[in-house]
Amino acid sequence: MKPVKNVEKGSPEGSSAITKQEVQTGNPTYDNKSIKINRNTGTYQENNAETNQNKQQHKADKMEQEGSTFLVLANRLPVDSYTDENGNVQWKRSPGGLVTALEPMLKKREGAWIGWAGGTSEPPAPFREDGMKIVPIQLTQEDVEEYYEGFSNATLWPLYHDAMVTPKFDRSWWDKYVEVNQRFADAAAKEAAEGGTVFIQDYQLQLVPQMLRELRPDVRIGFFLHIPFPPKELFSQLPWRRRVVEGLLGADLIGFQVQGAARNFLDLTRDFLGLSPTENTVVAKDGRKVKVDDYPISISSKEYDRLARSAEVEKLIHRYLSELGNRRIILGVDRLDYTKGIDRRLKVYREMLADGMLDPEEVVLVQVAPPSRERVESYAKLREEVEREVGGINGEFGRFGLPAVDYIPRSLNRTELAALFRIADLMMVTPIRDGMNLVCKEYVASRIFGNGNLILSEFAGAAQELKDAWLCNPHDIDGMKEVVKEAWDASEEEQKRRMSTMRDHVFEHDVDRWASDILHDLGID
Ligand code: ADP
Ligand code: F6P
Repeated sequence: MKPVKNVEKGSPEGSSAITKQEVQTGNPTYDNKSIKINRNTGTYQENNAETNQNKQQHKADKMEQEGSTFLVLANRLPVDSYTDENGNVQWKRSPGGLVTALEPMLKKREGAWIGWAGGTSEPPAPFREDGMKIVPIQLTQEDVEEYYEGFSNATLWPLYHDAMVTPKFDRSWWDKYVEVNQRFADAAAKEAAEGGTVFIQDYQLQLVPQMLRELRPDVRIGFFLHIPFPPKELFSQLPWRRRVVEGLLGADLIGFQVQGAARNFLDLTRDFLGLSPTENTVVAKDGRKVKVDDYPISISSKEYDRLARSAEVEKLIHRYLSELGNRRIILGVDRLDYTKGIDRRLKVYREMLADGMLDPEEVVLVQVAPPSRERVESYAKLREEVEREVGGINGEFGRFGLPAVDYIPRSLNRTELAALFRIADLMMVTPIRDGMNLVCKEYVASRIFGNGNLILSEFAGAAQELKDAWLCNPHDIDGMKEVVKEAWDASEEEQKRRMSTMRDHVFEHDVDRWASDILHDLGID
């Protein structure tokens, strides 16, 4: 991956490192521009790279003075830092559909992205990458514990996912959530150009729309929730429920993954704030009309398809197949999160092996599960449980060199994932609740020969789009076993029939379409 270029002050082409000095002072160094003499005409001429650099510099200066006309706010930045062999801090773009989808708009509009760089050390001063300004927000250790691990991931995350783990309501976590949301709002208020557009992402920043509106009534504000939004019966548990609804209502447009979530939110504006929502709008107390609708997010489908056809993927496929032996493959790819239903999947698999519905000589379950949010208690507990169960299945059904479950507890790169998607006869996506789930769309986009079986939980947002998947209820172990068996035995013709409709859908409704739909409704094209 190419390192992020620091061009804020015109650093030379190819020099992308942010030096230690720059990190400390926040002042990147820069070279004088080089000028070439054209020997034929005798005139001075800047080389092309230099001209481009000057253009970028000009753009950066303009942005510095006037602010950004399109801003994205998300808990995380779309870049990761690393230290190179010379001890310099470098940044590389983290792969992800969201940044890819928003990139054209960020470039076109002199955009900026505000977010947390991860970790608790002092982040660098704002810098530019590929036509986008990156504005890091600092979080202290206490912020991480109370805003990120606490309120975001031990209160809101479980509450919004059916309270399948008991949400914790801690008043100091709430105070920290307010404080950090205010920090993001302040940064956006400082960064946004007069009349600009600010697009806020996800559950970690639900108070920012209202906070920002108070600071900058001139900007247009959009908000998109990537995770589910619960019904009143659950949401009512939240001691600060009114504040959250009011916080979101500061936006001009609030987007959800599915219609039911948008409906849940609109109902709350009536029940908690006494407003009168209609089908897709609600008029806030200050008289603003707020649009509330569903915008199902997606992936860069063509990019996945291209990757799945690449020579690198072919090479990996050969390697994986020889390592896995002559067995058919069931695949799971998830962050290690209790919402993903990994435990149920393992139970189904174990029982099917025990019942003789699957033969351990003929099948292997490959489960990729990088640990996530490890300092949150429920995640640490899940990791222990999953690892114990994997050990149990391998002890009972594996043979030396041929485990029944091939468990990969780390992140894979996209090429590795695409290779796994290509060789998986059966992909199991079995969340108990999921806002959308992108893994299942990635599997579909990677099935370049049009066959394969997607087992998909009814409780993933994606199930409302991929109706030709083998839908299942992850609470019903016997029902899931039957669905897995049916899919396992499905004819090539049946597989292709289902996959073809799903592929059409995923290619038509890709992340670019998502971005253009929501940004269009937000008033920018
Ligand atoms: P969530 O956002 O809750 O983790 P999604 O399915 O919506 O779930 O998105 C997960 C994203 O992370 C997908 O793009 C997927 O490819 C990626 N991902 C999931 N597991 C891994 C892994 N083991 N290695 C690398 N990327 C992963
Ligand atoms: O799906 C919700 C989400 O917050 C994504 O935006 C993010 O990529 C993923 O979960 C991982 O979460 P975290 O940023 O907490 O590691």
